[in-house]
Amino acid sequence: MTPLLQLSGVSAAYLKAEILFGLDLELGDGEVVALVGRNGAGKSTLIKTVMGIQVRRSGSIRYDGREIVRLPAHAIARLGIGYVPEERRVFGDLTILENLEVGRQPQRQGAPAWTAAALFELFPNLAELRHRPAGQTSGGEQQMLAIARTLMGNPRLVLLDEPSEGLAPVIVEQMALAVGKLKREGLSVLLSEQNLRFAGAVADRAYVIESGHIRFAGPMQRLLDDADIRRAHLSV
Ligand SMILES: Nc1ncnc2c1ncn2[C@@H]1O[C@H](COP(=O)(O)OP(=O)(O)O)[C@@H](O)[C@H]1O
Ligand SMILES: [Mg+2]
Repeated sequence: MTPLLQLSGVSAAYLKAEILFGLDLELGDGEVVALVGRNGAGKSTLIKTVMGIQVRRSGSIRYDGREIVRLPAHAIARLGIGYVPEERRVFGDLTILENLEVGRQPQRQGAPAWTAAALFELFPNLAELRHRPAGQTSGGEQQMLAIARTLMGNPRLVLLDEPSEGLAPVIVEQMALAVGKLKREGLSVLLSEQNLRFAGAVADRAYVIESGHIRFAGPMQRLLDDADIRRAHLSV
């Protein structure tokens, strides 16, 4: 089966700085894939490269059978790729419910269709706070809201940049449960993580990135079992 997302020989640069060097990566329909690596390894850059923001990119990025490497970000979003950046952007003056309504987009073939009610089931914390301005909620709640708002766009593939970053352990656990439910709904997920415990709990396969190169690609369990690779390329 052709992968939903396939990167072949992808390089990327900001203005002058070359950051990614000829990366290959695949993600199957319905798969959860983790991109792990130390701070500064290139995880966020790779996600921005798929989305087509900020970077100059080369190589091939195929999504659902079509080449997207030369498309602008808004066209890529319209094809059904949702993106939740590292700095969880929510509208602080709008309530949680209003934030969700702002994200609403038409239903898409091959992707789960979300409503605010379904998202409140996915993130029960948000349900109780639905009429509170987002700016008056915790970091964890805002992270959940940022993901929920992206889901309102009914993406088929969602890119999550460090979803567990800076969250309290109990919230990280809730986030892992939510990602598991998204997978069961049939959504495909590419997430970047420094937290190997979180990545290990949610991902089918992993890529280890270091200095803009892929150092490992394989089942998540193999990475968890391989202390040598972890010592060589990760902080753990
Ligand atoms: N906007 C930018 N302009 C120039 N260099 C950047 C920019 N953003 C990130 N970098 C550099 O790219 C490299 C990879 O960063 P990043 O992709 O953010 O890593 P990670 O997400 O793995 O921590 C780092 O050396 C970082 O300093
Ligand atoms: Mg990052």
